[in-house]
Amino acid sequence: MTDSPRRAAATAAIHAGRLPALPGVPVIPPVHRSVIYEFVDAGEFADVMDDASRGYLYTRIRNPTTDELGAVIAELEGAEAGLCFASGMGALSAAVAELAPPGAGMVAATQIYGQTHHMAATRPDGRLVDIGDTDALRRAAQGAAVVVCETVSNPSLAVADIPAVAEVAHAAGAALVVDNTIATPIGCRPLEHGADLVFHSATKYLNGHSDVLAGVAAGSAELIGRLAERSLELGATLAPDSAWLVRRGIRTLHLRVERASENAMAIAAYLEGHPRVRRVAYPGLASHPSHAVASRILDRFGGLMSFEVEGGRPGGEAVMDRVQLCLRATSLGGVETCISHPASTSHRQLSAEELAQAGIAEGDLRLTVGCEQVDDLIADLDQALR
Ligand SMILES: Cc1ncc(COP(=O)(O)O)c(C=O)c1O
Repeated sequence: MTDSPRRAAATAAIHAGRLPALPGVPVIPPVHRSVIYEFVDAGEFADVMDDASRGYLYTRIRNPTTDELGAVIAELEGAEAGLCFASGMGALSAAVAELAPPGAGMVAATQIYGQTHHMAATRPDGRLVDIGDTDALRRAAQGAAVVVCETVSNPSLAVADIPAVAEVAHAAGAALVVDNTIATPIGCRPLEHGADLVFHSATKYLNGHSDVLAGVAAGSAELIGRLAERSLELGATLAPDSAWLVRRGIRTLHLRVERASENAMAIAAYLEGHPRVRRVAYPGLASHPSHAVASRILDRFGGLMSFEVEGGRPGGEAVMDRVQLCLRATSLGGVETCISHPASTSHRQLSAEELAQAGIAEGDLRLTVGCEQVDDLIADLDQALR
């Protein structure tokens, strides 16, 4: 028998195994799954609870693993602070709720992710505008509190002239929020071009392995602090396991984006020369309307492209049916190449007129190019286009 009384199994099952800290810091930080935190005394507990000293209390408020991912995003985007959310839409919803409460006015690019388009289109104070039309943007931004655009849009691949958009938004007194999901911070850092807040669907390139749903935002410490307060109510908190996986994925972000960009450039050039392809939208091609802006704003042209095959919707569907290596799947930014049909998937909420405004043809196919050997991808598309 030791001096301390033997604990009952029920107690040991809960409290046993607390080991003293030993020298040696893990190179890869652990996942902090604990939702609650313990304090040395009542005073420390009260101080953390009152925010008199910064500490961990409850994971919806703060968690070391999500804090770590937030810090990584802040550094990658050149921001003072970063914050995690349960999804990309969680990040956008928090930003819009904070910057443009109902009635304050929201402007979004017509060329934007379908769900963001839907958000602006269904708000009584929402306006949609061609982000490349500066005069239209100037008119739309009057009286608005926020302008939302994507660095590179999906699937028309329009590249926003972020410095010009920021100038117009700021002159109207609106904040500029940029969705940098497709460009990634390897391709562009919108805050350096005048954006006030940048956000990502981290589900895509940041994680890169199609196995996590997550969102992140980065900006000034003041604005991120307001979003953190807001997200206490919204509750769109990222789970620590998901944050850990995204952080792990980011370790190879630069390699994946470089490889996907090289692959995409080769595929775009191949498709552009194919007799059955009517149009290829890829910002790296000199033929793309955004090529000049892209060359100025982007360090990498990225892995996303769209192309229109002859024969409209049935023509596009036939190619979809014949591919053998490219996966018929939605989303983007994973290591695997996926093909999809925007009119019936990501932009299904849009009417025929809205599709046309967003620059999407009924027969367009979207290709999110992964990291495979490019010859194999071209061979697959070649047999599918026969
Ligand atoms: C460009 C872009 N932004 C935002 C989102 C929304 O992200 P999430 O699905 O993580 O909420 C998506 C999702 O497809 C997207 O493609």
